[in-house]
Amino acid sequence: MFISVKAPAKINLTLDALYKRPDGYHELEMVMTTVDLYDRIDLTAREDSAITLESSSGFVPQDERNLAYRAAVLLREKTGIKRGVHIYIDKHIPVAAGLAGGSSDAAATLRGLNQLWKLGLSLEELTVIGTEIGSDVPFCIYSKTAFARGKGEILTPLPSPPACWVVLAKPDHGVSTADVFRHLQVNQIEKHPQTEKMINALEGQDYESIVQYMGNVLEPVTMEMYDTVRKLKEKMQLFGADGVLMSGSGPTVFGLVKQEYRVKRIVNSLKGFCRQVFAVRMLGK
Ligand code: C5P
Repeated sequence: MFISVKAPAKINLTLDALYKRPDGYHELEMVMTTVDLYDRIDLTAREDSAITLESSSGFVPQDERNLAYRAAVLLREKTGIKRGVHIYIDKHIPVAAGLAGGSSDAAATLRGLNQLWKLGLSLEELTVIGTEIGSDVPFCIYSKTAFARGKGEILTPLPSPPACWVVLAKPDHGVSTADVFRHLQVNQIEKHPQTEKMINALEGQDYESIVQYMGNVLEPVTMEMYDTVRKLKEKMQLFGADGVLMSGSGPTVFGLVKQEYRVKRIVNSLKGFCRQVFAVRMLGK
């Protein structure tokens, strides 16, 4: 028995932190969507009860530190299933990048194992399990444009953005999400995104307003830690992207671009400064 599942990358059109909660997490409001950049997760049933994992990328842990591995272990614990599986991750989403690659792999593993092991769990049930793995996992299980609250697990569907290109540029270093949140002073945030306006923009399919209301309170925090992020954002703006923002806790910077003829120019210009540059389509239409 074999199943292959696609795991798309996510970007944040907005990310706002309202306050720090007693459990140490931040109460968030985020508008998130997916882009046409995927990892592929191959799940092969094993004869024995072992869970094994391999990846095409040397940057990915191949043991219980991997979120996909944890997803399989947790799913077995929750359902009492004893079956084994081999997880192969064909990695395309940059690691520790703010694109939820690890979370998306875990979400795809939960969705895939639900089928492979014929568990019959609903998306809501998988989401509850996903929350225990990481704050972005519920969104990745749902995997469509959404307004996310709480730690990121309370999801309301939204219309996907109108068709456009997304240029992604990832500096050579990764970022630890926990580090970035540790440096965030919620009571000193200078500019909160106007989340309501972003939601209205999506509902009205108003590309210009989507660009106008992009915002992420973690962006100045990560920029303070890594000047590369500030420089990449400035370059992408200079080369003509319509709107530019850091995704999640970074360090990936993305630019929305409506006109196809400008995409190649922006990508080529960025390649002089950054090794990992991709142009992908916004998903969902
Ligand atoms: O949930 P996840 O393990 O992905 O989160 C990584 C880290 O990011 C957490 O340990 C926490 O420090 C921080 N975080 C937070 N508030 C959230 C989500 C994550 O402070 N809502």
